[in-house]
Amino acid sequence: MKFITLLPLLSVAFASPLDERDYCRPSRKTYVAKYDDLPFVEPGPNPIPNPYNGLTYTTFQVDQYDGFIPPTSGNQWTMAFGGSGNISVTWLNIRSPAKETYALESFSFACVSGVPQPECAISMWGFKSSGKPIKRVIKFPALGPAPIDAYVMNRTTFGREWSDLKSVGFSIARADNGGDMFGGLALDDVKYTVKKSC
Ligand SMILES: *[C@@H]1O[C@H](CO)[C@@H](O)[C@H](O)[C@H]1NC(C)=O
Ligand SMILES: *[C@@H]1O[C@H](CO)[C@@H](O)[C@H](O)[C@H]1NC(C)=O
Repeated sequence: MKFITLLPLLSVAFASPLDERDYCRPSRKTYVAKYDDLPFVEPGPNPIPNPYNGLTYTTFQVDQYDGFIPPTSGNQWTMAFGGSGNISVTWLNIRSPAKETYALESFSFACVSGVPQPECAISMWGFKSSGKPIKRVIKFPALGPAPIDAYVMNRTTFGREWSDLKSVGFSIARADNGGDMFGGLALDDVKYTVKKSC
């Protein structure tokens, strides 16, 4: 009985050194992307270097505090200037496509159009490695004249259904009539776990 339960352990121990190149280790790594370590030059654009902390960004750029809404941490956040963008797990891998997905846990967000700006509806689509896309709409409040320190990012968390993701797409619109916000979508302190299976 003892001998039988030991067998799986032994096979793992012998398998790994045989061919390091073809051997895939399942892994799981949690990141909080803050964008403060990324170069920012003016004039831009300042695209996020891909991959960044395990993810590939489309449209999102590095952007720096300009005196309006402060980033949650540091003085940089990521901004999709047209209000739409996409954050995916990278497909880049030297030998074979990595079977990677990610679970989104939380982020800070703001719609950035200026003052006044209408209430903003941020639509999010989660594209999973299996199954149909999931959708969520998050609101960012209307901004009127106020002391400058009244403008802050909001923060939200995501449930277990926001896992097994290949990519997450974003788009912003006026909450009242679906019209153009004429602004950008800012994210900061994006927390997620990248999972690699074999
Ligand atoms: C959300 O953002 C608005 C505008 O910046 C701010 O007034 C409000 O206090 C924020 N809410 C939270 C819970 O942070
Ligand atoms: C995001 O990327 C995925 C995968 O490439 C694509 O299917 C989806 O249409 C994109 N979504 C948006 C909102 O750009």
